[in-house]
Parts: sequence; structure tokens; C-alpha cells
Amino acid sequence: MGDKTEKTFRFVIVGGGIAGVTCVEQLSSQFPDAEVALITAASLVKAVANFKQVSKTLEEFDVEEQPSSVLEEKFPNLTVVQSAVKALNTHTHTVQTVDGRTFGYEKLCICSGGRPKLLTQGNPYVLGIRDTDSAQEFQKRLSKAKRIVVVGNGGIALELVYEVEGCEVIWAVKDKAIGNTFFDAGAAQFLIPSLEADKPEGATPCKRHRYTVEPAGASHTFTDEDRRGRGVGPTEPGSALGPDWHEGIVLRGAEEVSHRVSVEYQCEVDSIYTHQELLKSPQQTLVSEGGSWPVYVKLTNGKTFGCDFIVSATGVVPNTEPFLHGNNFALADDGGLRVDDHMMTSEPDVYAAGDVCTACWEHSPLWQQMRLWTQARQMGWYAGRCIAAHVLSEPIELDFCFELFSHITKFFSYKVVLLGKFNGQGLGPDHELLVRCTKGQEYIKVILSGGRMMGAVLIGETDLEETFENLILNQMDLTPYGEELLNPNIDIEDYFD
Ligand SMILES: Cc1cc2nc3c(=O)[nH]c(=O)nc-3n(C[C@H](O)[C@H](O)[C@H](O)COP(=O)(O)OP(=O)(O)OC[C@H]3O[C@@H](n4cnc5c(N)ncnc54)[C@H](O)[C@@H]3O)c2cc1C
Ligand SMILES: *[C@@H]1O[C@H](CO)[C@@H](O)[C@H](O)[C@H]1NC(C)=O
Repeated sequence: MGDKTEKTFRFVIVGGGIAGVTCVEQLSSQFPDAEVALITAASLVKAVANFKQVSKTLEEFDVEEQPSSVLEEKFPNLTVVQSAVKALNTHTHTVQTVDGRTFGYEKLCICSGGRPKLLTQGNPYVLGIRDTDSAQEFQKRLSKAKRIVVVGNGGIALELVYEVEGCEVIWAVKDKAIGNTFFDAGAAQFLIPSLEADKPEGATPCKRHRYTVEPAGASHTFTDEDRRGRGVGPTEPGSALGPDWHEGIVLRGAEEVSHRVSVEYQCEVDSIYTHQELLKSPQQTLVSEGGSWPVYVKLTNGKTFGCDFIVSATGVVPNTEPFLHGNNFALADDGGLRVDDHMMTSEPDVYAAGDVCTACWEHSPLWQQMRLWTQARQMGWYAGRCIAAHVLSEPIELDFCFELFSHITKFFSYKVVLLGKFNGQGLGPDHELLVRCTKGQEYIKVILSGGRMMGAVLIGETDLEETFENLILNQMDLTPYGEELLNPNIDIEDYFD
């Protein structure tokens, strides 16, 4: 690299997403004299707005896009460079941008986020979506579509299938239940009726749910007869409700009623054909079946669907490529840059935060990394504080926010709060579940291990998040309370005063 270094900054942050912007704000506030650069590929940066600390660990905020000039006005010693980084040289402490410039840094924080994993590259009928704004934009583009196929089972797919209106959606999920990243089968079952928007009130297919806990041998059955019930039972590692939970539930009934979403469970995409290709393939009999579509998807369950578009919502891949060549970054199994409890990568003076990194410190037993806005903000902020502590030679401890996983969001217009090991993630064989469900109103699940609360899923206006957060944080022995914990007639807060 013969390029001359244009300027050396004290701190360089790459990426104008929530992680990068929060890191910039932290460093620029703490060191107003320091020259800071934010290098970002996009012209708009993301900012946190209306931040609200809901409880000790739960936080809520809006994500807004704004021109980067807003940041520069706020922090006069901040320079925003609008270009993508194409190379990093950790020996010379320099980054190169695609527009041919080279910048030096004392400390670098990589916050380049992730990009959607696509089913196939370069197929005009396969779309990935990166943020909720583009999801809404995408919805507009859908106005001419009669049918789309959505592939994936994370938060994005969940949101998407609910958002899309006036267009038939075939939803292919690889799991036995929708929303597997966030929910167990019971919660999925609670949410399913929301997808059947056209159905009249009271025509719900399942007055009574039955689902048994894995494995079948354990055969503990929950019921929610009379629209409210509780279940307690032993579970296996991996937790959640077992594989036979949908037995006896009219779930695939989605296909029998008037609705817009049909779910194809336990399948992935086998192959994608254009109309022309299909005519030449052994599948061609399908063409006559439902008229002509621009593209056809064959699923691994053997079914083929014609549609206008395929939406690939199968997760993100960390954006690490521009930084790897010539350097020696340790990468995690998911492709992220490994960071330690000070958000440091394996390269000196290089930190990372947000979707691009993988938290490789020894996690608190109640926390796990999930690539979400909240964690992008927390990591960006903490990375900024770690960088500051290091340049000031001050000690710093892992932030409290990494003690307990907490996430607040909305799915299918229900408030959703997830706490701790909300799906029994990584818990031993001897944990149990308490469930309370009132159809159309609330779904509450608590995970107990050795009598201590390890996690919870709260759907609806349960008003239980603070109490449960405290019970999880203080790890009180709840054995004496048993099922009373979820007794709707008891004000649980009174119990623990
Ligand atoms: C469709 C969708 C919906 C989502 N909905 C939610 C939700 O409702 N709630 C939630 O909590 N989370 C949601 N997420 C996840 C959330 O968006 C991410 O976890 C979060 O945005 C990560 O922030 P980040 O700052 O790490 O990365 P990003 O927001 O991805 O920002 C990365 C930045 O880096 C820049 N960049 C990338 N490469 C380079 C380069 N080489 N040089 C310079 N700049 C570069 C990009 O332009 C971008 O500005 C959603 C994700 C998707 C895809
Ligand atoms: C910017 O930095 C210079 C020194 O590098 C300092 O004198 C000035 O006060 C800083 N500006 C602000 C707004 O803090």
C-alpha cells in the first residue's frame, strides 16, 4: 500500500449503525478534544431516539435514520467519512476506504454489522431485507404481488408475515413451530391466530390446547381448558414444549380457513426455478396447476409453489471480509469477530461491537448474545467505555447489562418481553416450566431450575416484567411458591415485598 495516510485519528469507528453511532457518542462525549472519525458506507446513520430504561435491564427505544451531519454538529471534533472500508492494516494502524483514502487510528472499533444470508446470490426473485424501513418499503413493492414465499423463522420473518397484507404468504420454516428463535411451540400456538386476520371472533379452532413436554416418554400434558390454565412439568435440555405439541391442535388448519398465511413446517428450500426452467424440468406438470408465476420454489417437503418473489429471511452473516485480509482475526463459529470481555478482538487496538462481533467471554448464566438493536447499543456503548478506560489506564468491569438477557419488542402487535434463558437455552435436564395462557390476551412462561427462576417469556400486557426480572436477578428459591407464582388471582408483587 503506497498510499499516504491522509490523517491519523485518535479513534476510528467503522459503521454508522446503532453500535457504531453509540460508540462514537460515548467517545466524543468523554473526549471532546479528541479527533474521532466515523467511517460508514451509507449516507444515513442510525440513531437511538426516545430511550427509556423500563427496568433494571430492560430498555426500549426507537431507531431513527438521520443524516450524518447531525452527528458532526453535535460533536465538532468528529469527522464522518462516507465511504466503505476496503482494507485494514493492523500493523500500521491504518484503514483504506474504497474511495482511495487511508486513515490512521490509535484505537479502532469495527461496527460493520451483518448482511442478510441469501438463499442464492444474484437471483432477482430472491430478496433479503436488512432493516424495518426496507421491510416497509418492501411491503409497498408487494402491492402488485399475489403470492410470496417467505423463508426463515427468526424475528424478521415473524414480523414480515404479519406485516404483509393483501398478498398470500407461503411461509417455510425449518422448525416445528413458528418463531423458533424467540418462542417455544406454546407461544407460537398463542400467536398463530393473529395470522388468521379474516377469521371472525369466536371461531377459533382450538378451544383446548394439549401439548406434552419432550420427550414423549415424560408424558406430562398441559391443558388450557377454560381458556386459562397452568402447566408444570419436567423438561429435557433444549427446553420448550416437545415435538408432539401440535398433536390435536388445528394448526395446519391455517390452510383450511380464509387467511393469507400458510405455514410449511420443517422444510427448507430445495431449489428455485424460473418459469422457463420449470418448463424444462421434471416438475413441469406444476405449471398447469396454478397458472404461471415468475418463479417457483421447491421445498424439501416435496411441495412446489409458484410466487412473485421469494423473501430470504434466514439470518445475517457478520460483515467481516474487508478487515480480514492480511490480518489475523480470531473468528467465532458464526463468522463473527471474537471479542473478549473488553470488546477487544484478537488484534491489538482493534475492538468490535454489534452484529459483526461474537461475544466470547464467559457469559453470565442468564445472558446470551442475540443480534438485536438493544445489544448493538449496549455493546457500542460498552466498547466506547472500554476504549476510554484503556487509554486512561483505568480498570473496567463487564457492564451490568450483560448479566441478564432482556429484550422487549412487539410481535403480531402483542408486547413481548424476553428475560434470561427464556427458552431454556443451555439449561440442564432438571428444569421445569410454568405456563399460563389466556387466548388472545396473554402468554406467560417461566423457566425454573433448581427452584430458581432462570428465564421468562411474557406476551401481552402482563405487567410482570419487573417482578420477574428481580426474581431472576436475585435467584431466590421459589420452591415454596410452586404454581402459585402464576396464579392470576394473586398479586405476585405482594408476595415478594
Ligand atoms: C429486517 C430486520 C429487522 C430487524 N428488526 C429488529 C427489531 O425489530 N428489533 C431488534 O432489536 N433488532 C432488529 N433487527 C436486528 C438489528 O437490526 C441489528 O441487530 C442491529 O441493527 C445491529 O446494529 P449494528 O450497528 O451492529 O449493525 P448495522 O445496523 O448493520 O450497521 C452496520 C453499519 O456498518 C456499515 N458498514 C458495513 N460494512 C462497512 C464497511 N466495509 N465500511 C464502512 N461501513 C460499513 C453499514 O453501512 C452500516 O451503517 C432487525 C434486523 C433486520 C435485518
Ligand atoms: C476540539 O478539539 C480541540 C483540540 O483538539 C479543542 O480545543 C476544542 O475545544 C474541541 N472542541 C470541542 C467542541 O470540544
